Amino acid sequence: MSSDFFQNLPPFLTAPEKDCVSALAASLQWDGAQAQRIGKAAAETITAMRSAKRKAGGVENFFQAYSLSTQEGIALMCLAEALLRIPDAATANALIRDKVAGTKWIKTQSANSDWMLRMAGMGLSATRSTLEGPMARLGEPVIRKALAEGMKILGGQFVLGQTIKEALQNAAKLRAEKGYLFSYDMLGEGARTMADADAYYAAYESAIDAIAAEPRAQAGQHPGISVKLSALYPRYSFAQEALCVPALTKKLGDLCRKAAAANICLTVDAEESERLQTSLKIIRNVLEDITLTGWEGFGLAMQAYDKRALALARNLIAIAQQTGRRFQIRLVKGAYWDSEIKKAQMKSLADYPVFTRKAHTDLSYLACAKELLQARAFVYPMFGTHNAYTVRAVLEMAGPDKSGFEFQRLFGMGDSLYDLILPAENVPVRIYAPVGVHRDLLPYLVRRLLENGANSSFVNKAFDPSVAPQLLAKDPVESALEKGGLPHPSIPLPRDIFSDRQNSKGVDLDDALSLRQILRQMGSAFEWRDTFCASIIDGRMEKTGNLTDIVNPADKGERIGTSYSANADLVDKAFVSAARAFPGWNATPAKNRAVILNQIADLYEENRAMLMSLCVREAGKTVSDALAEVREAVDFCRYYAARGIEDFDENGRNLSAYTGESNKILLQGRGAFACISPWNFPLAIFTGQIVAALMAGNSVVAKPAEQTPFIAQAAVLLMHKAGVPSNVLHLLIGDGLVGETIVQH
Ligand code: FAD
Ligand code: 2OP
Repeated sequence: MSSDFFQNLPPFLTAPEKDCVSALAASLQWDGAQAQRIGKAAAETITAMRSAKRKAGGVENFFQAYSLSTQEGIALMCLAEALLRIPDAATANALIRDKVAGTKWIKTQSANSDWMLRMAGMGLSATRSTLEGPMARLGEPVIRKALAEGMKILGGQFVLGQTIKEALQNAAKLRAEKGYLFSYDMLGEGARTMADADAYYAAYESAIDAIAAEPRAQAGQHPGISVKLSALYPRYSFAQEALCVPALTKKLGDLCRKAAAANICLTVDAEESERLQTSLKIIRNVLEDITLTGWEGFGLAMQAYDKRALALARNLIAIAQQTGRRFQIRLVKGAYWDSEIKKAQMKSLADYPVFTRKAHTDLSYLACAKELLQARAFVYPMFGTHNAYTVRAVLEMAGPDKSGFEFQRLFGMGDSLYDLILPAENVPVRIYAPVGVHRDLLPYLVRRLLENGANSSFVNKAFDPSVAPQLLAKDPVESALEKGGLPHPSIPLPRDIFSDRQNSKGVDLDDALSLRQILRQMGSAFEWRDTFCASIIDGRMEKTGNLTDIVNPADKGERIGTSYSANADLVDKAFVSAARAFPGWNATPAKNRAVILNQIADLYEENRAMLMSLCVREAGKTVSDALAEVREAVDFCRYYAARGIEDFDENGRNLSAYTGESNKILLQGRGAFACISPWNFPLAIFTGQIVAALMAGNSVVAKPAEQTPFIAQAAVLLMHKAGVPSNVLHLLIGDGLVGETIVQH
């Protein structure tokens, strides 16, 4: 295939959001008159949806009442998320007590509200009174069962059937009554074991057989299935590409051949952003498969919230154009937004892979939609959305020719919107219909709860009488440009999420370039390591005592070096010096000590590759664990420094030293501390113990586990370089006997 899936994909973690937004706006060339027409049509649609809704109940009203901006909504979300997987009754009871007892379940019991609202309101307030009454414990098993059933009912709103047979029966009714098409999704994702993956794969195979056996409503209107690659292989990740790309190419290829033979469409769902590149490699392989030539039912989903969306849409169109292979592209906004944000913060990435303002995602959606609609000769666009504005915008951008694309909605959502659109516009509408049992629903359900409960979601406000239709139908492009394309002010960059310190620097190990770079740096840092290590007393290496060979525990053939074990004299010497140094160090203003701790953190980050290489070679850690190890150590330094800084006055005097308040006692040193750390966190715990003691004004004699002396030596040298006086921090290398001698001191 001559064209490239990856061509010009922007480096999304370093591309500032503002630049992405400018590029999207330039591409979209939004026309004010067109925007007005869309806004008007959307507001009318919302008004019509609201009046139709008065006659029916549904999940939308429920989520409006229990939105995630309310205490009750959050409690419900926690219950739904956790109750299904808590194995024991005691923990489930504790969770229910915690979540239900403190909330006010009173607002939605009016006779006018629909059954779901009334049930929830009554049930939860009854639960609360029972839990708070004298018979609370007796009632717990009943409440537990009732709530679990309630959650099942809630979950059931989003599932078409527990088996494919049941789902096909329910679909037949909806198809006959309203004309919807279907794409069946066999629930299950993120397979942990090959047995799980095999079971999910088998479910897809039999689903294809069952769908194939169904009579078709109209020629040309093919049913479909939606597949998550994470369900089909337990190691579907960038780090395991050597294994998962061939395995998933085979599995997806086989499913495609089966679907093609039955004239069923198959769409690959879009999952977490770090999996995009890997998924594209698998999809490219499948599209290149000659046995699938002629089948136009292959599709993939793409997420507009991803900063790479527009470039990806263009690449896909170019591939279809150049190869003459027509495939389907489902454009969605993206269902993993909350976890993308949280993961980027946990990994301390340079920026977010997704937009931080909803209006930016909407703008991206419109820009991609425009490209896809213009390329209908080469690709078949499928627009997945429940937002009336988005639907109206797509219809407007499509122009007078409404052929060659379709809308899609999720089962249990968007009914009122598409019940209006489907009969009025000549555009097919397909329902993405999850099939399966409750056990496999949880991740999918949580995404739906987040989506329905978030007050930024269209569905959350669609039926809220206090929000005018015109407001809901506000032009998102205008909103995006009003804010100058700037990121959301409440979502600081991952490095800046803490108010009192910087988050430790991360590395995107799912990015080929960053991974190659850190591996190269780690390789050369290891070449330059010391091959001897020894105790350090008063800043001097004590190369005396018994010698021990240190080897890589994951590869016993690899020798790291030789360490000298301390003897009792050295232990004495270290403690005598530490005890002498203590008063001076304790009298040093906390502020100065905090500066040194922050300096240690900076030096650890500068020497990250060296420390990581030692964690891998000496402690047998994986690269990602080694990174986590260094980051935790850095975070310890900055955390304790921040706590220390909190506790001194403007003249630099230790508050603890003269106020005597008991909660400030932390900053009052006690003497020479022994810090003995374990092998499994050879840098993080080793550092954490030392810097906590140092921050409080103590001097330290540190002894690492005998298996990991090189890491400890490197750390102590960096601490000295950062400014910890050499008589305040000493290192003793050795085995358990040395540890015992230290304990006796
Ligand atoms: P809106 O209310 O207009 O948009 C909500 C969306 O905006 C959120 O979901 C999020 O994407 C985005 N958003 C919210 N807040 C912010 C913010 N602060 N900054 C940036 N963006 C924000 N999702 C997948 O990820 N992969 C799939 O394969 C997939 N398949 C789907 C198939 C179908 C048929 C449908 C209908 C949906 C599918 N989805 C998939 C789910 C889809 O991503 C969500 O339903 C969709 O985002 C909701 O958008 P909306 O236009 O309906 O609603
Ligand atoms: C999800 O599983 C629908 O693929 C989308 O959330």
